[in-house]
Amino acid sequence: MKRVLLCITGASGAIYGYRLLQVLSRTHRVDLIVSDAGRIVLKEELGKDLSELEGLENVSLHNCKDLTSPVASGSRLVRYEGVVVAPCSMSTLANVASGINENLIHRACEVALKERVPLLLLVREMPYSRVHLENMLRVYDAGAIVIPASPGFYHRPKRLEELVDFVVGKVLDSLRIEHTLYKRWRE
Ligand SMILES: Cc1cc2nc3c(=O)[nH]c(=O)nc-3n(C[C@H](O)[C@H](O)[C@H](O)COP(=O)(O)O)c2cc1C
Repeated sequence: MKRVLLCITGASGAIYGYRLLQVLSRTHRVDLIVSDAGRIVLKEELGKDLSELEGLENVSLHNCKDLTSPVASGSRLVRYEGVVVAPCSMSTLANVASGINENLIHRACEVALKERVPLLLLVREMPYSRVHLENMLRVYDAGAIVIPASPGFYHRPKRLEELVDFVVGKVLDSLRIEHTLYKRWRE
């Protein structure tokens, strides 16, 4: 089975990370890291604990503080289809942009950039400051794909799930993983 590393941080939009986990784990082995703030927002927004995510089939949870984890090493991460941070807080974005590793998520993102493993950051904040925008440009120039958590409306969504699936579908598009989560333009 192919592998993906999914990181959930403490930006609003825990539902994006949770839905990605559900969809990806049907076809991939998913290594999961949740930051301390990510854990708080997961509980706040979805009422979920880490144990519920860990219980899903094909999902392995890594401790965010464990810098000895296999995903901290380029020799292991080169085998992954990609690293996705969803949702990505401005704090984690800043860490990735500056190359400062305070946890395993930052380290895995740094390794993805140096090894040219696709790195996708589903950023969420509103409005953006100049610092946020500069950090996005820095990670883009270093090879990351920056995806704003902003759904389109041309598929005429009626339910929250359709809005979420549009954004999750765009993340899968960037990983070149086939899906039918949203209706493509004039298809
Ligand atoms: C309910 C809640 C919502 C938050 N939403 C955002 C957000 O949308 N974007 C953001 O950058 N930070 C947001 N934060 C703040 C981050 O959680 C905070 O900056 C944290 O230090 C991020 O740490 P992490 O990147 O390690 O997860 C939110 C915090 C809480 C408690």
